[in-house]
Amino acid sequence: MTQSRLDLFVDRMVSQRACLDHAARVIADLPGPVFELGLGNGRTYHHIRHILPDRDTYVFERAIASHPDSTPPDEMVLLGDVYNTLPQALERFGPTAALIHADLGGHNRAKNDIFARKISPFVEPLLAVGGLMVASDRMYFDGLVEQPLPDGAVEGRCFIYRREV
Ligand SMILES: C[S@@+](CC[C@H](N)C(=O)[O-])C[C@H]1O[C@@H](n2cnc3c(N)ncnc32)[C@H](O)[C@@H]1O
Repeated sequence: MTQSRLDLFVDRMVSQRACLDHAARVIADLPGPVFELGLGNGRTYHHIRHILPDRDTYVFERAIASHPDSTPPDEMVLLGDVYNTLPQALERFGPTAALIHADLGGHNRAKNDIFARKISPFVEPLLAVGGLMVASDRMYFDGLVEQPLPDGAVEGRCFIYRREV
């Protein structure tokens, strides 16, 4: 039986939570900031702050429209299109991110895939060795290694990558 849009949405939500919880445990001893790509309503940002309260968490978003409880302070926002702000972040932070979470897509899966292909080379150099990248769309990295999903995550609804060297 095919999945309804509600089924797909629920799978994406539970997968995001399972992958972020897993990633927070894996990077517990790895220093470095967290980058949240795509604030949206701010639900995943709020969850990241909940599970990693002591991490500097920078948000990349072109227009802030989040729930008031999930709105980052101005100094933690890189406002603008990620095609501009990701290269700026590389100059500012270097390859230091312990965790990058990306949920930048919309409703069109084909468009999301094209976008993921285009931004992958901008995301890849930001990750520290040992760092994890969690994405709602398949990414296209040269040097990052795809990781098995944790219990509770649904195949194809979330992806995890790690910089090994
Ligand atoms: C699906 S929402 C994120 C939802 C969020 N994870 C949550 O839990 O509420 C995607 C967000 O990515 C942002 N976005 C999409 N493309 C972008 C781009 N090229 N540059 C900056 N932000 C972008 C959109 O403005 C939107 O707020």
